[in-house]
Amino acid sequence: MAIYLFYSANYSKFVVLSSKSKCLSNRLPYMQNIHPIFDSVLQRNDKEALLKQHAMVVWMVGLSGSGKSTLAKAVEKELYNQGFLTQLLDGDNLRTGINNNLGFSEADRLENIRRAAEVAKLFCNAGLITICSFISPTEEIRTIAKDIIGAQDFTEVYVNAPFEVCEQRDVKGLYKKARNGEIKNFTGLDAPFEAPQNPAIEIRTHELPMEDCVKQLVDYIVLSTKY
Ligand code: ADX
Repeated sequence: MAIYLFYSANYSKFVVLSSKSKCLSNRLPYMQNIHPIFDSVLQRNDKEALLKQHAMVVWMVGLSGSGKSTLAKAVEKELYNQGFLTQLLDGDNLRTGINNNLGFSEADRLENIRRAAEVAKLFCNAGLITICSFISPTEEIRTIAKDIIGAQDFTEVYVNAPFEVCEQRDVKGLYKKARNGEIKNFTGLDAPFEAPQNPAIEIRTHELPMEDCVKQLVDYIVLSTKY
């Protein structure tokens, strides 16, 4: 059983959590002799006042090809047009940088999401509406993200399109490769995907035109972040 560590969402306490999966962050010795200055830096309230918005993390969950990135991009653009400051964190993008040493094993996905959630927390504490788009395939992984970010700031959005629809879309050609055995641990095929049981919002991209999906999410975010 792995143990991983983070400061609670409001930085008031240090949290030690154990996980069923093996995690790369079992690094307790490195936390010695560290003296964080969380409570003496400019606070989130100050930054929200400057931006005239409340921050939140919108955590989009769904299969590859379900429409997360398309939705996230369009939602960010619309929020920008309405005068909100946002940051988009996308799985494929982060995997070219901060997460470029991670693959798709259970442990690597867990570390991928742990880092993404820590980064999201930083942006959220800078007052930004932080839109995250990660498959985040299991309940355990999403619980980790929620614990790091803090339940009050974490809004789970299930971008729901059935596996068959995603496979038929196959925008990136990955389903074909996975079927041919060229990609291992492919979500929904030979790696698990557990649908969120109680998301704040569910967006069914196979049933609604994209502009309706965008409006549904933008309306929710605007209401939640009004200053
Ligand atoms: S997560 O499972 O760790 O949350 P993440 O959202 O970062 O995944 O990355 C998913 C993206 O990686 C997919 O949209 C797809 O483009 C690409 N990808 C490459 N290999 C796989 C795989 N085995 N399973 C799922 N997605 C993969």
